[in-house]
Amino acid sequence: MKQIIVGNWKMNGLSADADALAGALATELAALPTRADVVVCPPFTQLARLAPKLKAAGIALGAQDCHKDASGAHTGDISAPMLVDLGVQYVILGHSERRAEHHELDETVREKAVAAMAAGLTPIVCVGENDDQRSSGDSQATVGWQLEGSLPQGFTGIVAYEPIWAIGTGQAASQQDIADMSAFIRAELVRQFGEAGKTIRILYGGSVNARNVTDILPVEHVDGALVGNASLKAESFVPLVRAARAS
Ligand code: PGA
Repeated sequence: MKQIIVGNWKMNGLSADADALAGALATELAALPTRADVVVCPPFTQLARLAPKLKAAGIALGAQDCHKDASGAHTGDISAPMLVDLGVQYVILGHSERRAEHHELDETVREKAVAAMAAGLTPIVCVGENDDQRSSGDSQATVGWQLEGSLPQGFTGIVAYEPIWAIGTGQAASQQDIADMSAFIRAELVRQFGEAGKTIRILYGGSVNARNVTDILPVEHVDGALVGNASLKAESFVPLVRAARAS
């Protein structure tokens, strides 16, 4: 399966930086004859601005969240149809930063995933254990519950395994940990969705960089990466795309 590299810019990027980064990505990725799928998820405020530039470069546009409703009295929120209206194709849901800072529960994430799919977006649903759950040997149980609670019936999106202790720390999970958890997630997806569970892409996220990417991407059941820090510069993001399977 072709791999997919997703850049999560988080709350970074004023117009000038966003233009420069999108421009550099467009130029450098155009130089690759064949490549993995690439998705860039800037903050909401840059989506409309970057949409034409990224589209012309064959880079898909993603957002970092959406509301469960299509419209209504939800001050400050953005709905899935609003994202589609701007040319957005993917949406990250249930990122651990949103689960922690916005108190999102598995149920919240599931409702958002339903809304995203109904609007025609591909949801990228994040799961992952924290340090305490890991030290007490509960990593798989935690991720199992999250998958069960966060993925709606008929889920056709992507799952990102992002151990919380690895995000933004510079210390990615080990190859063995990633292999074990990806195999567990694949088995859970097949248990939940039958044959269709075999086609759901599984990403690893958490301190992916140009040094460790060549250990991570060849792992069985890893279909790509969700990347934070290293997605903020073309020179650290493009090597990740280069390392990913193009077919
Ligand atoms: P990181 O972030 O690559 O900076 O660890 C990953 C993420 O939070 O998606």
